[in-house]
Amino acid sequence: MSNLDYLQEHVVVIDFGAQYSQLIARRVRECKVYCEILPFTTTAEQLAARKPTGIILSGGPSSVYEEGAPHLDPKVFDLGIPMLGICYGMQLMGHTLKGKVGPGSKREYGKTEVQVHDTSDLLSGLDSEIIAWMSHGDSVLEVPEGFRSLACSANTKNAAMANADGKMYGVQFHPEVVHTPKGKQILENFLYGACGCKGLWTMQGFIAEATERIRKQVGQGNVICGLSGGVDSSAVAVLLHNAIGDQLTCIFVNNGVLRKGEADMVQQTFRDTFKIKLDYVDAEDRFLDKLAGVSDPEKKRNIIGREFVRIFEEEAAKFGDAKFLAQGTIYPDVIESGTSVAATIKSHHNVGGLPDDMTMELVEPLRQLFKDEVRLVCKELGLPDEIAWRHPFPGPGLAVRCVGEITKERLDILREADAIIIEEIRAAGLYNELWQVFGVLLPVRSVGVMGDQRTYAHPIVLRAVTSEDAMTADWAKLPYEVLERISSRVINEVKGVNRLLYDISSKPPSTIEWE
Ligand code: XMP
Repeated sequence: MSNLDYLQEHVVVIDFGAQYSQLIARRVRECKVYCEILPFTTTAEQLAARKPTGIILSGGPSSVYEEGAPHLDPKVFDLGIPMLGICYGMQLMGHTLKGKVGPGSKREYGKTEVQVHDTSDLLSGLDSEIIAWMSHGDSVLEVPEGFRSLACSANTKNAAMANADGKMYGVQFHPEVVHTPKGKQILENFLYGACGCKGLWTMQGFIAEATERIRKQVGQGNVICGLSGGVDSSAVAVLLHNAIGDQLTCIFVNNGVLRKGEADMVQQTFRDTFKIKLDYVDAEDRFLDKLAGVSDPEKKRNIIGREFVRIFEEEAAKFGDAKFLAQGTIYPDVIESGTSVAATIKSHHNVGGLPDDMTMELVEPLRQLFKDEVRLVCKELGLPDEIAWRHPFPGPGLAVRCVGEITKERLDILREADAIIIEEIRAAGLYNELWQVFGVLLPVRSVGVMGDQRTYAHPIVLRAVTSEDAMTADWAKLPYEVLERISSRVINEVKGVNRLLYDISSKPPSTIEWE
């Protein structure tokens, strides 16, 4: 099988403004079918030119009758490409094909019992009753001519529908969310049944194809890559190194606000194990000088961002013959910045914003991937689990977790406490269940007693959250025993700390970071 085979089948999600569009694409890829998101303004001609194997119409906040509601070029329904409409997508299909759409007697929201009465295609293999996630006011009251109803719920006569030639389907509920336990099977029925997909999207295939693409793009040219040791830049570094060897130089800047052992770990992994040319820049003093006396979070961010750009430019100048700059841009960044982001360097990058007047051509081999897929690529490339499953770490690093003024001494206290927290969370086997977990040092002091001595020292805050994408987050319900061990170790082992607090705020209204 050729490495490019996965491109022979791909599904397009047409986005009608749903909060779930990215999730639909992720789920399709979990079914091993390559999937991209396109805006609803995409025309039938544009779609036909891409030759997708299937089309999924996403949900969306509108009603088809609202003025300005997003519609789809009706000719798309004549292309003969298998289609699945989800929620608003189903209503749009019903409306465009002359069925009847309107409000039901009641809105449906949340987990809903759905009665399945036709399991011949889309709902094949399902029980006669399933739980599905609903969130809608309107629904398809009468299916279009040539369609039949597959399922219903108490308030929705047509919870799913199919047309006679097996090309068009609709579901009023959301198969992409975990609250629809059989959702994956429904998507598989569509992908493998209606679309005839075989499941060709694998990370091995992606790596092989990306390697060919990188070689073609850079030829004999030299590439520099800002390496932070985070998931994305690590994957880029190894992918590029495997493709072009010593034509790649990575630049790693120690900005003084890294976690304990991080600078050593990055050097060991990339220089010693992977034999990548690594330019290690120890700029700790330079950053701390600039940050001295600054307490305002946004000022800290600006200083760190600006200084990073300066240093990166200075270092890049040493590799003046490099024509290419490699970056760990991933698919959610591409979607969020619209479709024409090719030339823009993202500013919210985890190694700090890179200069936007750099004349180097960008190499962005991860542009197609979701974060979970980048982690799988890391595993496939032989990167250690510690990197593959690493939590996100903000560009301004510990500076935004050391609330108030930043000094080397305060950073060291935080580093020690943070290292204990991570160690205990890993030991309890909880690390991969959390989105982020870390310590925060507060600029207040409180009284304590240790031995016979009165102490007057700082509290550390333990922050642990679960999340899908950092837009919302829940505070993690860590077991008391784990909290107890962390508290006891941090207070006993870290000089300058005499109290540990547990942050039980969710986002919103709080944020994940403290600054
Ligand atoms: P908040 O605190 O806004 O964080 O809930 C959401 C996610 O973004 C990360 N974060 C940052 N990442 N530079 C970054 O590269 C920043 O200035 C920054 N601030 C927050 C945060 O760790 C979380 O994952």
